[in-house]
Amino acid sequence: MTTDADIVDELRAAGLVGEGDIALTPLTGGVSCDVWKVETPSGPIVVKRPLPQLRVAAEWHAPVERGTSEVRWLRRARGVDPKIAPEVLAELAGHAFAMRFLPGCPVWKDELMAGRVDAGFAGEVGRGIAAVHAATAHNEGDRADFPNDEMFRALRVDPFLLYVARHDAELAPALEALAADLSGRKIALVHGDVSPKNILVSADGPVFLDAECAVYGDPAFDIAFCTTHLLLKAVWSGDARLNEAAAALVAAYRAGIDWEDAGGVLLRAGKLTAALLLARVEGKSPAPYLTDPGHKHVIRDQARALIRAPQPVDALVANWKRTFA
Ligand SMILES: Nc1ncnc2c1ncn2[C@@H]1O[C@H](COP(=O)(O)OP(=O)(O)O)[C@@H](O)[C@H]1O
Ligand SMILES: [Mg+2]
Repeated sequence: MTTDADIVDELRAAGLVGEGDIALTPLTGGVSCDVWKVETPSGPIVVKRPLPQLRVAAEWHAPVERGTSEVRWLRRARGVDPKIAPEVLAELAGHAFAMRFLPGCPVWKDELMAGRVDAGFAGEVGRGIAAVHAATAHNEGDRADFPNDEMFRALRVDPFLLYVARHDAELAPALEALAADLSGRKIALVHGDVSPKNILVSADGPVFLDAECAVYGDPAFDIAFCTTHLLLKAVWSGDARLNEAAAALVAAYRAGIDWEDAGGVLLRAGKLTAALLLARVEGKSPAPYLTDPGHKHVIRDQARALIRAPQPVDALVANWKRTFA
């Protein structure tokens, strides 16, 4: 395990910082990594070092190689569009890395929770995700660069789909079939954690962070993951603008689908969204802000119905209720 002093030594060796005292200031938010901000002569940078065990209530282990996988995703995404990911400055020992810090860019989740909901921005998020999928679809090089099925299974398929299946005999066959389908599709480069807490709001649009779960897989997962967050927050806040943001996200994403028939992607995304919605109220990783039993009830009932009778994600969003009142 590298120490903080080792990190400073490596930053020096990489020519990113000079001699003298270097302060590593922890950035809030992380459950899977140490993330620090470091002032350097050429501006602030972020150093991120993956932890072997995630800091969440239930025990999750994850190989630290995901740090290198994240670097690959960030570089690949910048190759598609330099505005949508931070620049990687150096790779360090222990699968840690340094990237440029983006000053003055709030995290999208904080904006949404504060009631600043911008459907136009949600559309840009959808466009950004689709751009990476379209650029990497059916690409053998990208497939070879992200052979992370085992990690994706441990961090995504198992906790979000199979954990709920194990606790719900009635829905288990549908959830298990969904998990098998998701694991079997090798279509494009998936970010794996497109949550509003991993998106910075920059003047140039969304900047995607935290690609530790990147895998060559089913692009429907990313749009489902992000849609789920917006729909959960719509119930939590009761704010119709979150439904509108989800609709804008999906519409912009749909417009970027050029690698296969859009209908197929949207139906798979609808099934995954239903399962992820349920996982966020009954799964291993419940949304921390969903404490109100009434909110959970609204989400659980709709999610269960949608797992039984799937809808394409655009229809799912259009029909999503914030309350049963
Ligand atoms: N390049 C960056 N510029 C500005 N802030 C960043 C940057 N990278 C990370 N952060 C901040 O640190 C937080 C945690 O980073 P993230 O990559 O999401 O790590 P974790 O895997 O621990 O969630 C982000 O939510 C964001 O607030
Ligand atoms: Mg994060």
